[in-house]
Amino acid sequence: MSVEPSQGAQPAIENLMDERRVFPPAAEFTANANAQSSIYDEAERDYVAFWERIARDRVSWDTPFETTLEWDLPFAKWFTGGRLNITYNCVDRHVEAGLGSKVAYHWIGEPGDTRTITYADLQREVSKAANALLEVGVTTGDRVAIYMPMIPELPIAMLACARIGAPHTVVFGGFSAEALAGRINDCGARVLITADGGWRRGNRVNLKHHADEAVASTPTIQKVIVVDRLGQGAHMVPRRDVWWHDIVDRQSEHCPPVPVDSEHMLYLLYTSGTTAKPKGILHTTAGYLVGTSFTHEAIFDLKPDDVYWCAADIGWVTGHSYIVYGPLANAATGVIYEGAPDTPTWDRWWQIIEEFKVSILYCAPTAIRAFMKHGPQFPAAHDLSSLRVLGSVGEPINPEAWLWYHEHIGRGTAPIVDTWWQTETGMILITPLPGVTTTKPGSATFPFPGIEADIVDGDGQSVPFGGGGYLVLKRPWPAMLRGIYGDPERYRETYWSRFPGMYFAGDGAKRDEEGYFWLLGRVDDVMNVAGHRISTTEVESALVDHRSVAESAVVGVKDEVSGQAIYAFVILKTGQDPADALAVQLREHVAYVIGPIARPKYLMFVPDLPKTRSGKIMRRLLRDIAEGRTLGDTTTLADATVVETIRENTGKAEE
Ligand code: PRX
Repeated sequence: MSVEPSQGAQPAIENLMDERRVFPPAAEFTANANAQSSIYDEAERDYVAFWERIARDRVSWDTPFETTLEWDLPFAKWFTGGRLNITYNCVDRHVEAGLGSKVAYHWIGEPGDTRTITYADLQREVSKAANALLEVGVTTGDRVAIYMPMIPELPIAMLACARIGAPHTVVFGGFSAEALAGRINDCGARVLITADGGWRRGNRVNLKHHADEAVASTPTIQKVIVVDRLGQGAHMVPRRDVWWHDIVDRQSEHCPPVPVDSEHMLYLLYTSGTTAKPKGILHTTAGYLVGTSFTHEAIFDLKPDDVYWCAADIGWVTGHSYIVYGPLANAATGVIYEGAPDTPTWDRWWQIIEEFKVSILYCAPTAIRAFMKHGPQFPAAHDLSSLRVLGSVGEPINPEAWLWYHEHIGRGTAPIVDTWWQTETGMILITPLPGVTTTKPGSATFPFPGIEADIVDGDGQSVPFGGGGYLVLKRPWPAMLRGIYGDPERYRETYWSRFPGMYFAGDGAKRDEEGYFWLLGRVDDVMNVAGHRISTTEVESALVDHRSVAESAVVGVKDEVSGQAIYAFVILKTGQDPADALAVQLREHVAYVIGPIARPKYLMFVPDLPKTRSGKIMRRLLRDIAEGRTLGDTTTLADATVVETIRENTGKAEE
């Protein structure tokens, strides 16, 4: 892992210098807040006892746990001896408590169709879908892959898996066939649940043909269950494929939830790392339920009447933790919107908030910046007075975007919670508490109660307030990843080897004189595009996969809307013509191999790449070139003329 702290550190330090405004919580909010400052004290006295209390209070156990934490660094087990079913906790117990007619999800399709799903509906639909999985031979422990648009059957499919103890792996619907196949093959899934397609920006996005292409190279898949979203028919492979409505609708509405061990695998979610091979991040049941449900209630101040909208896609961890498991465990009423924020116009979100009286909104800075770009007239045309808490996640939020969010969406009153976490952490770890914390625009503020985060220098020594370095976590937490699927050594190496005894998140951070945490972005070769992690290596591999490419180097450059944009430098094979048409073709090739999210925004053909004498590509210099900065240290460069040649070409990058 190459670590270049001074690079990433620059912009956010400037932010800190510029931004001195503070926003204390309103007294009225504090008086009614779910989370009071006393929970910090309780957690600090004994963090294991703190999580034990929460686990006993919040979870309905089939068998209560005996031991709160078994910590054999870096392997944690939480709540051992306990048995539970997470769907019982997320659905059935609410119906039993009389909340059957409470809305679990208001679903809005992009074309304007809507569905309302109550907790009683959810119980029925999840049970039927679980029975369908049993019918096709899925048993406890079998992996099930899910590749779907944002339709109600997506959370239903996840819960159906969890009901019978079959771990799911959801693959974001924007990923390519190849990405889907790689994930299915890594975990050996037996069944794939997908849909004919979904709506995006007024277009039908066909998922089934990607699924078919993927399944052509996934020998473990025996059955493909297909939801009919578009109503236009799809090619169905005899015996292998079955329509959801044909198999699910005729099932019994009763399917007893299967109690599983606290540490039973709940799901795998693949995420980019510094190599080309995505990592199957492994989450288990009880600790994940405790962590997501408690943080959800405390950080968003969830009350029974709230209408909560997390606008992420369920295919990412934010959707898993804060659209599905956390909110449902808390009997929340949620909103799910299928489509794009600009369809049919840039006020779609605000119209949804007005119509459904959304009171809590959780979204990514990239969305906020896109809204900023189109102007405050769109939110101003709607009544957003129902909003009382706003959240941000996925990347550092720049102070301007924070202030715009505060003023134009929160009408100057709703507290903003800037929540730092990762696929690996499962739950939010650094965040304000809305009734407790005085916020500063651009800062994720402080570790959540029970979490010990620190900022260390290259030797793992804690950096005093006012300094910057690497963000680490020094204690286990209930929703933490339990490993990388099938590769314990890679788990240890990736997260626990850089600083012995500490979890290294891969992010740079700074703490100000008052101890506030300011996240500074990734310090490894992972880009953050619109809040999504994409590894430079993965994009490079996709480029080199094309027959005309000899070598490539990819860097993330600053982008006004998406935070970072992908900039690819490409060396062609001899005899290939560096024509514009080829640049377009290569960008499309990456979109085809990984998915549109990884399509390079810029692509430049170069005769050579700046390398050290040992042959390592100097990405730092490429970033300098791409962002038009004066070059940093070039003394280790093997051939100094290379960068000059590239620089002369920068104006010619394809966009
Ligand atoms: O770099 C951090 C950034 O997103 C990374 C985690 O990405 P992923 O696993 O895809 O999960 C995203 C949603 C939880 C982190 O390592 N990140 C996430 N939230 C923030 C953030 N950076 C700054 N501030 C945040 N609030």
